Amino acid sequence: MPEELSEYLQASRVSRDGCCFVDNAFEGGAAAQTWDPLAAKDAVHAAAASDTGDPFCKYPHWIRDEMLSGLLLDAGCGYGRISIPLLEGDPLLRVLGVDASTEMLGRFHEFATVRNLIDRVGLVRAGLTHIPVRSGVADVALSSAVLLHNPYEGAQRIVAEMFRCLRPGGKAIFVGAFPNRWNASGLMSALYAATQGARNGPVRSYSRSRITRLLAPYAATVTLRATGVEVLPKSFLSASLPGQHRAASAINGWASKAGAIREVAANTGIGVSIWDVVATKA
Ligand SMILES: C[S@@+](CC[C@H](N)C(=O)[O-])C[C@H]1O[C@@H](n2cnc3c(N)ncnc32)[C@H](O)[C@@H]1O
Repeated sequence: MPEELSEYLQASRVSRDGCCFVDNAFEGGAAAQTWDPLAAKDAVHAAAASDTGDPFCKYPHWIRDEMLSGLLLDAGCGYGRISIPLLEGDPLLRVLGVDASTEMLGRFHEFATVRNLIDRVGLVRAGLTHIPVRSGVADVALSSAVLLHNPYEGAQRIVAEMFRCLRPGGKAIFVGAFPNRWNASGLMSALYAATQGARNGPVRSYSRSRITRLLAPYAATVTLRATGVEVLPKSFLSASLPGQHRAASAINGWASKAGAIREVAANTGIGVSIWDVVATKA
C-alpha cells in the first residue's frame, strides 16, 4: 500500500499483512464466511450475479457523473469491479478498498497490479461496521451490492461508518444497495430474509421510507434514483420455472426502457427494481 494512503488508516487498529492492511480486531467474520468461498469459486458471479465472466459487467455508468476526484472509500470493494474503471478514468483518484474477504482483496490486488493502478490503491481487510479509516478523510464513500446482503442493523452501522469517514461536502453513493420492497422479488426476499437472522448473504429489500430513515444523518441532501423496473421476478425464492429467467429479463428490460411505465413505477414506488442513492454530507 502506498505510504500516503496508509496515513488515512487508524494506525492503532491495523497491521500490514502482505498486500493488505488488516483490522486487528476483525469483525467481518460472518461476511468472510459467506464471500470467501463464493469468490474462490467464481468472483464475477459472486460480485455481480453474472455468468458472463466479464469482471466489469453490469457497470453503473451513471456514477461517473457523481464522482469527485480525490480519495474514494469503496466499502465492500470486492475485486474492484466498480473502483478499477473509476481509477482508469481519473488519474487523480486514489482508492481505499475495504472488504472482509481475503479472496476478493487478492483479486483486486491482481487486477490493479496488471493495470498499473496499484500505486493508487490501498486494500484493507475489515468488517464494515467498524471501518478502520480516519474520520472526515474521504471525498466519496461508495458501496455497491453490499448493504442488501447485511442484516438491517448492520447496514445502519455501515451507513454511519461511511458517513463518519466522509469529509463535509463529500458524497456517499449507494449502488445496487437497496432492492425495492414493493415488487414481487422484494416481497419474497422480505419473507425469506426474516428467517435468516444475522446471516450475511440473503437479500434484504427496502421501502423508500426505510431508506430515508437509514440515511437520516445525510438530511436534506439525499437523492433516490429509480433503477430498472420489475414486472416479472426472475425466480420464486431460489427456484424458477423453465424459461422464467430469460422471459423475466426480456420483459423487465422492455419495461425499464418504456418511459411511461418507468415514470409510474418511480412515482408510486411500485415495480421499481432498485433504489440507487446519492447523498452529500453537510
Ligand atoms: C456482492 S459483492 C460486491 C462487491 C463489489 N462492491 C461489486 O459491486 O462488485 C459483496 C462484497 O461485500 C463484502 N461484504 C459484505 N458485507 C460485508 C461486511 N459486513 N463487512 C465487510 N465486507 C462485507 C463481501 O466480502 C463482498 O466482497
